[in-house]
Amino acid sequence: MKIVPKSPNSRSSKTESLLPSTLPDFRKPVSRSRSIRIDFGAVALRPESLMDKFVIRGGNPLVGSVRISGAKNAALPAMAAALLTDEPVILENIPDVRDIQTERNLLVSMGAEVELGYGRASHRTTISCSNLGNPEAAYELVKTMRASTLVLGPLVARMGRARVSQPGGCAIGARPIDLHLKGLERLGASIKQEHGYIEASARRLNGGHIIFDKITVTGTEDLMMAATLAQGETVMENCAREPEVIDLAVLLTKMGAKIEGAGTSTIRIQGVEKLHGARHRIIPDRIEAGTFVIAAVLTGGDLTLTNCDPTHLGSLIQKLEEAGVRITAANDSMRVTNGHQLIAADISTEEYPGFPTDMQAQYMTLATQAQGTSLITENIFENRFMHAHELVRMGANIKVEGRRAIVRGKTQLSSAAVQCSDLRASASLVIAALVADGETIIDRVYHIDRGYERIEEKLKGAGAQIRRIGEILPKRAQAPSVVA
Ligand code: UD1
Repeated sequence: MKIVPKSPNSRSSKTESLLPSTLPDFRKPVSRSRSIRIDFGAVALRPESLMDKFVIRGGNPLVGSVRISGAKNAALPAMAAALLTDEPVILENIPDVRDIQTERNLLVSMGAEVELGYGRASHRTTISCSNLGNPEAAYELVKTMRASTLVLGPLVARMGRARVSQPGGCAIGARPIDLHLKGLERLGASIKQEHGYIEASARRLNGGHIIFDKITVTGTEDLMMAATLAQGETVMENCAREPEVIDLAVLLTKMGAKIEGAGTSTIRIQGVEKLHGARHRIIPDRIEAGTFVIAAVLTGGDLTLTNCDPTHLGSLIQKLEEAGVRITAANDSMRVTNGHQLIAADISTEEYPGFPTDMQAQYMTLATQAQGTSLITENIFENRFMHAHELVRMGANIKVEGRRAIVRGKTQLSSAAVQCSDLRASASLVIAALVADGETIIDRVYHIDRGYERIEEKLKGAGAQIRRIGEILPKRAQAPSVVA
């Protein structure tokens, strides 16, 4: 399937739904020849999924095996990296999640050709940016996914200019991108901010010395991409060391970039004139793997995760072992068994290789089932405890004090109607519902669809009782018939 930019009069085939216009549902198989036209004025959501809910009946242990998808947070910068070359970049193990759809739409809106694999190659995407016309990331797309700002560095480096909407705040905190902008200025770009947009330009970027005030994952990635085409050497200090940064450096190196030190806090990049196409397989999603590990532990299951990389989960595995969990790790799989009482263990989120903030919410659900009091400290984002209130509604004993949450276990969780507030908070509620008594209804699951591939199918395959509802609702409300 090939996605092409929209022609002025085109209409999506799904326009008769609740929202004014729609984007294609990439989950549905389509024939090879079919091309899909996209309305870029639309919100990047399958409209009916805005109403989707999960109904989960708790109490079933997760058993068997679950295949872990490619890492969303590695796939997003990899797709942005395709902007750096006029040759095709082929990416494999791309997860089928909403954020990836949003990024595809963003690239297409700039004139890129994005081809989707189908059937057995359904997780492959080929991106060709030979004819980029419009180096702009519009508000409609950026507001649905902050990582859209990852196109900023590559666009300035390749096209000499970029216009990217300011992302604004989000559910988990202010999340500014000032460090991306300061870094680009250090590489010689001039930056203007007006009407809610950032405009960056440079005839050609020059290598420079960047010391990040604070460790930023996408900031490191954005500037690493920009520096690959700058004139001369760039040295970046206090860089993020996440596996996703390393994965991006591996892809860029395959494209002809000269990068040393990715995965350490100092990265050196020798700028080159041009990058070329490459083929790359995205690393497994460590956060998805960690989420299934906790779900298996709490349901007292016996679950094997395949296609994962346990070396990326060091801090989580260590903490879970401290809490009494048994994990057997092999090269690309992990087996979790649990029949023991969990013991409370404190966590404090840190940059990699510390405990990931993206696992904090799921760990909080685990803490509600551990014997004793767990102290959870969130150091990365200032407002990342929204799930705590929903867990309390399910019977948990949690007190939030600023950046700390005190969780007293063990409490019986009971089913309730709850609401997702962000991606990882949603995961914590799904896990809670799997251990709660009765039937929990989780609303706003579009948050979870942003980053978990078919989570309900994976959970169902491992024995959970979970159903997505929403699509059974009528697309249009029927007018009540009037009886005279
Ligand atoms: C990435 C991940 C996200 C994860 C987060 C922290 C992707 C697509 N997303 O987000 O899942 O939760 O890392 O591991 O990879 N900051 C600034 N100024 C900046 C940039 C960041 O002050 O210019 C602050 C942020 O507000 C935050 C901290 O730095 O407090 C870390 O944020 P950052 O690492 O940039 O997160 P993201 O890259 O957005």
